[in-house]
Parts: sequence; structure tokens; C-alpha cells
Amino acid sequence: MTSAGFASLENEVMCVESNQAILADVSSGKVPIFEPELENLVNKCIKNQKLQFTDQIKDVLEFAEVIFICVGTPQAEDGKADLRQIESVAIDIAENLHGYKLLVEKSTVPIGTHIRLKNTMSRHLKGKIGFDIACVPEFLREGNALKDFFNPDRVILGIESENSKKLLQDIYKDFECPKIWTNPATAELIKYASNGFLAMKISYSNMLADICEATGADVDSLIEGIGQDSRIGKEFINPGVGYGGSCLPKDVSAFIDIFDQNNVNNGLLKEVDSINRLRPHRIITKLKSSIKNLENKRIAVWGLAFKPNTDDVRNAPSLEVVNKLIEEKVTVNCHDPQAINQFKKALNKNTNLTFFDDMYESARDCDALIILTEWPDYMATNLDELKAKMSNPLIVDGRGIFKPSEIQKSGFEYKAFGLKENNN
Ligand code: UDX
Repeated sequence: MTSAGFASLENEVMCVESNQAILADVSSGKVPIFEPELENLVNKCIKNQKLQFTDQIKDVLEFAEVIFICVGTPQAEDGKADLRQIESVAIDIAENLHGYKLLVEKSTVPIGTHIRLKNTMSRHLKGKIGFDIACVPEFLREGNALKDFFNPDRVILGIESENSKKLLQDIYKDFECPKIWTNPATAELIKYASNGFLAMKISYSNMLADICEATGADVDSLIEGIGQDSRIGKEFINPGVGYGGSCLPKDVSAFIDIFDQNNVNNGLLKEVDSINRLRPHRIITKLKSSIKNLENKRIAVWGLAFKPNTDDVRNAPSLEVVNKLIEEKVTVNCHDPQAINQFKKALNKNTNLTFFDDMYESARDCDALIILTEWPDYMATNLDELKAKMSNPLIVDGRGIFKPSEIQKSGFEYKAFGLKENNN
């Protein structure tokens, strides 16, 4: 997204990609992930000769003065950010460097990574060659990447030299949002602090949903009631089956580790994480409160992607829910408008799993339907058609997409986060 975004703003961009299959795809204008409008943008930029691809770091170093490093920093087994990819890029750059470059960390990296990169670079440089490191963290949301790229709320620019500032000022000249110039360590921290805060809002709302369930308070009015306070805001307070994806879970985990490393209390973040981890299990508990023995039951699961408008299933609640259903010997019928292929790869086992292109067909003869992603198609469900297909009209809704009063009128038993069990 970053490369196509900059290329569409009349910059000359060259991307280096070492995975040959991905390189072949993107070079021919095929984007290997589902991201609305991104493929069109990439094709437009290739056609205008603003965007090109290579597998050689040497080509990029000859071509550009500013290098954005966008590699993954996945979660290592111990919860920390795994920096092997970014380290290896730094070595590759250093070994091929012949003149000044500005290296910009776009990937989410722990505080101090710019120093680590500087040291790695210095160890591998062939001679005395100048370079700068800056940190300009990425805040793109999957499924919303184009909008977020062209209309960011802010751009954070962590720099250490006047030259870095000059180069980045030019690259970001078309962005009219606030620009926050700071040092690289603070820029690195801002990314974790933002994602940690978003995760905290979601876990807080999930905790509120639980107290609504216990007391019978109305969860929708509660969320509306707090969201109307401009100091709180309406976004990221929707309760449900929890946050997933490639960022929030791993960033919260890495942020917890950063606090540990610095001997700073991180109890709040740990609670945010543990509330989130329990959400998928609560789906099964809700299901079992209606169907005590799940063995040999047939259950439909709608929504495999971690959120709508993406085919990404990384850390998606669906993985845990479906695995649990398989353990309980349930026959599972899965539906998702985009994420079926990714889900098949991620799950790695397919006992008792069937995938459907038609959401209503997936519910045929089912004892229950579980909803885990708020895809627009699901929100527009024809409830009569759905009910006619199912053998038992039970919906466990992990995203609260229906109004309880309306769905109960149509004869469904309806369970969702925040609804008191005996009211369901
Ligand atoms: C996130 C950050 O928003 C983005 O700034 C950063 O660059 C990358 O990480 P993304 O992972 O694409 O983006 O998804 P996001 O839209 O943040 O949603 C994350 C998860 O939170 C999803 O599983 C979503 O369903 C869940 N969520 C979101 C809720 O459960 N409730 C909400 O109110 C909002």
C-alpha cells in the first residue's frame, strides 16, 4: 500500500521483494491480498511507470535516496516482536551501500530498534558511508488502507537529522494532516501506545458488555451513552468476540514485553490482553447454555476473517472458535465472503469442516449459527429464509449485528455479548 500510495502521488517508487511468487504477482499488477481498490491503484501506478519491482536490493539502492522498510515484525514465541526480517534487510542494505541513504522504519518495532539498526548497519558497512534512520510508523487499517493512506489523522515522523527532515518534508508535502516531528524512539513508542489504547478501548467495552449481561442493563444504550461523550468517542467501543488481526494482538503482547524489559508496571495491558483471549471461549459457553452436548451437532459459522473487508484470518477469533467446535466433535459449516482460502491454510486440519459460497446454504439443517464477523451481507440477512433452512433457530452472535427485539420477533433464540442470558 505504501509503495502504491507514494507512486500515485507522483513519486518514482521501486519495491524490492525477495519472495518470487509475490514478486511475480505484484509485477503483473496482481495484489496477493484482498484490499478494496488496492489492485486498481497498483495497476494505475505500473501503467504510469511510477511503480516498479525488483528482487535486488542493489537496484533499489541505485534508484532511491529514501528507503522505507515495511517488512513484518511478527510475534515471536515469547511474545516479543521478532526482528529477524528487519535485521536481515539492514544487513543487506549495509553490504550494498555506496552512498548516503535515509532508511525509514515503517514496520512496528520496539523502542530502540533504530539504535539496533544503526549498530547492525555500522557492523556491515563496507567503508565510511553516511546514513540516517527515521521512524514513520504505519497506521493503516486492513480493509481501509487506501482511505487511511491518503487521509491519515496524523503522520508521526521520528528523525535525528536536518537532512532526514528535509527529505521527509518533501515526501509528505501533499499530506495536510497534522505532522508530529519527534525523535525515532518516541515515534516507535507512539505506534505501540496507539494500538495499545485501541485494544484497551475494545477490552473495556467487552468488560462493560459482561456487566450488562450480569445485570440486564442495555448494552446498546450503554455504548451509545458513553460514545456520545466526545472525550471518549464512538469508535472502537463495540463489544464482541474480541480484537484479532495481524496488529492489535501482537502489538499488545510486544508492548507488555517492552514494559517488562523496562521494569515498568504493565498490569493494565495484561488485563486488556487477557479479557480479549477469553472472548472466543465465551462464544462456546453461550452456545452450550442452549445446547449442552455439542457432539454430532451441525453448526454454521459465518465470518472467518478477523474483520469485514479483508481476507486476513491472522489471530481471527474464528480460528479458536472453529478449533473448539472440532474438539467438541461438531460438524462445522463455514462461510465467509473472502477469507475461506486463507482460513483453510491457517487451520491446517479439516475434519468435519465444510465450506460454502452461499451463506444460507451453509446454515441448512444446522442446530445453531455462530456469527464472528460483521460482513454487510450478514447484516442484511433475510431472517425468514435463514430460519427456514435451519433445523434449530439459534443464533450466537459474536458481533451483535441484529437488534434483539427484531430477531426475537422472527422466532430465533438469540444470544449476543451484553444480553442477559435469561432474556435471550
Ligand atoms: C489496526 C489499527 O487500527 C491500525 O491503526 C494499525 O495500523 C494496524 O492495526 P487492523 O488490524 O487493520 O488495524 O484492524 P482494526 O480495524 O484496528 O480492528 C482490529 C480488531 O478489533 C478487529 O478484529 C475488529 O473486529 C476489532 N474491533 C474493532 C472490535 O472488536 N470492536 C471495535 O469497536 C473495533
